[in-house]
Amino acid sequence: MRSKILEILKGNNTFISGEEISVKLGISRAAVWKHITALKKQGYEIQSVTNKGYRLIREKYDKISIEEIKRCLDAEFIGKKIFYYENIDSTNTAAKENYTEPDGTVFIAEHQEKGRGRLSRNWDSEPMSGIYMTILLKPEISPYAVSQITLVAGLAVTAAIEKLSREPVYIKWPNDVVIHGKKVCGILTELTAEENRINYAVVGIGINVNTKKFSDELKEKATSLFMENNKMFNRSELAATVLSEFEKYYTLFLKKGFSEILEDYSKKCITIGREVEVITPAVKYQAIAQGIDEEGRLLIKRNGRVEAINSGEVSVRGIYGYI
Ligand code: BTN
Repeated sequence: MRSKILEILKGNNTFISGEEISVKLGISRAAVWKHITALKKQGYEIQSVTNKGYRLIREKYDKISIEEIKRCLDAEFIGKKIFYYENIDSTNTAAKENYTEPDGTVFIAEHQEKGRGRLSRNWDSEPMSGIYMTILLKPEISPYAVSQITLVAGLAVTAAIEKLSREPVYIKWPNDVVIHGKKVCGILTELTAEENRINYAVVGIGINVNTKKFSDELKEKATSLFMENNKMFNRSELAATVLSEFEKYYTLFLKKGFSEILEDYSKKCITIGREVEVITPAVKYQAIAQGIDEEGRLLIKRNGRVEAINSGEVSVRGIYGYI
């Protein structure tokens, strides 16, 4: 029945009423409405107007479209140039190989064969369902401050998702974006530097957008926007929103430092106030997360003393679960 409704909508350039569809298919108007709602959740964009009926605006979101990203983009230099790949090993690698491209160039793929995560982990990159993109940056800052760019990116993704999704979004320090306690996005920043100067940095962003199922290994701690909102998302629009938000926060960061966005970041950081386990290559210990400092470090209290920890090689987990 659903595909018949779809055919009718496709065959009509203008609005068709629920009444007309119901007569054509011999079903009630309520049933038509139910099927249309289901089609919308599957990703078909259908406009409904009282007294006019329904009109198919666009078929299911499938491939990412550079044109659409550019149409939705509200930025000066981020995403001015975009490279699109159907399949690639990793967009971070692509960005590094093309480091002579201008500041703000974006590399985006439908699928990554060797998607990489933090701490030498893999990043599952199911074809056509997520956003796998990397931004090439050439900031004039000390290599030490690069980890702060990752925090800027986490904040930008959070703000972008909040614009398009109805569920509350938080950041697990340093840069996992979480919804209802599960990870929806990860960020991997890499850089090459000489002495005290950065040559370039690449900020890789992986978002689980329309993923419907995770492996047994991941399903306890990973989620997708589809799973949380029960509807498909337009990945091009979301990518553009992330890039626009990134430019906004990144520009502030470059002009005034991390302290300028510390308040926004802290408001969104779900780690603050929690009991955490800090895992470094050498030691593992428990502490209480107290806050974030002006350099983006996590302030923790252990044995009565407050210490600041850098995101580098550290992993922070909740005592009672992933957060
Ligand atoms: C993490 O949470 O461990 C970071 C995951 C980062 C994944 C993204 S997907 C786009 C870019 N290319 C990669 O190979 N990794 C990053």
